[in-house]
Amino acid sequence: MTVYRIAVVCLGNICRSPTAQVVLEHRLEQAGLAGRVEVASAGTGGWHAGEPMDPRAAVALRDAGYDPTRHRARTFTADWFAEHDLLLAMDASNHADMVDLAPTVQQRAQVRLFRDFDPEATADDDQVPDPWYGGPDGFRLVLTMIERTVDGLVQRLPDLIDSPSH
Ligand code: 4NP
Repeated sequence: MTVYRIAVVCLGNICRSPTAQVVLEHRLEQAGLAGRVEVASAGTGGWHAGEPMDPRAAVALRDAGYDPTRHRARTFTADWFAEHDLLLAMDASNHADMVDLAPTVQQRAQVRLFRDFDPEATADDDQVPDPWYGGPDGFRLVLTMIERTVDGLVQRLPDLIDSPSH
């Protein structure tokens, strides 16, 4: 059985994408898909590589019942295209930076916006905003958005896993 590999990617890999990784892994476990789907996260910028999650993101996760302690930040590189099936960008800027690193034109298609899977996303509201400069409300908002999007993604996973390109 092949494993389907998903990477979630933001700028620093200490707030948004690690939150998405923790929530997605939790939901995969609940859905009985933990052995079939693997999740990694990275940041397009490497400043925080090796660091744990931002304490504000960790508090929001812990308050909602998740375990934020295992994360260590990594940097997104061109190798991630070969190592993963689906690469999900938190915002348009992350998306552009990732597409720039694609080794082939065809591999650009592996990059999608994370919120493509959010049933409430609209053309004007399709990104996960960076909570780094704001207060705790921003982190809670981001967590709610991520939980809703992860539910949409998990629903679509059977189709994605069985798609011919995978
Ligand atoms: P993230 O948030 O991309 O959601 O992890 C940020 C973390 C750090 C920085 C920017 C955004 N920074 O500029 O260091």
